[in-house]
Amino acid sequence: HLSSIVAPSALASDFSQLASECQRVLDDGADWLHMDVMDGHFVPNITMGPPILASVKKALPHIKMDCHMMVANPIQWVEPVAQAGGYQYTFHYEATDDHMGVVREIKKHGMRAAIALNPSTPANSLSDDLIKQLDMVLVMTVWPGKGGQKFMQDQMPKLNELRHKYTHLDLQVDGGVGPATIDECTRNGANVAVAGTAVFGAQNVKQAIDAIRMSINA
Ligand code: DX5
Ligand code: ZN
Repeated sequence: HLSSIVAPSALASDFSQLASECQRVLDDGADWLHMDVMDGHFVPNITMGPPILASVKKALPHIKMDCHMMVANPIQWVEPVAQAGGYQYTFHYEATDDHMGVVREIKKHGMRAAIALNPSTPANSLSDDLIKQLDMVLVMTVWPGKGGQKFMQDQMPKLNELRHKYTHLDLQVDGGVGPATIDECTRNGANVAVAGTAVFGAQNVKQAIDAIRMSINA
């Protein structure tokens, strides 16, 4: 049985009030906070790193930080992110050749381990042996790098393929996801939804979170 998880992306929040922005969506029912870490190498932009994650964790000890690591050298940040209080560490398949090594390092540091797939990376890049070690796979529904982009419907077959092969694996979607696009994702097997603009930009945040959760539960 899979749980339905809603993870608003803090990238769409007001960074000058980061902790209270996270608290605001937790109060409205968010399960995890999706923290987009960009290093200026794997993607052009730079967002936040372990010191900022640590500040958020200190302000909100119960937060589950879902760390989406858009970084060129994923193994390097495992220990700092764990020390900052990371709950899950998602690295990009495209960023390393030693997937098993990074996963082992994540587990050694007590975090959930996940791999993200860029739009051009097929589902079958992930071997059964690798998947067995993972807590989640993230199917990107935009090219990583910034918030507010258009949802890529052409990623749905990939999601569907993964769900058919792995019935118990958490499957996350990220990019352009919100009340308008979540149904398609859940129909194809997603049970973990990231939403930046659609949650932080909503008139009614609770309504947006509830709508996303209802779709996953339906
Ligand atoms: C994109 C990030 C996403 C982004 C999603 O590189 O991985 O998490 O914040 O933002 P929205 O939901 O606005 O597309
Ligand atoms: Zn993300």
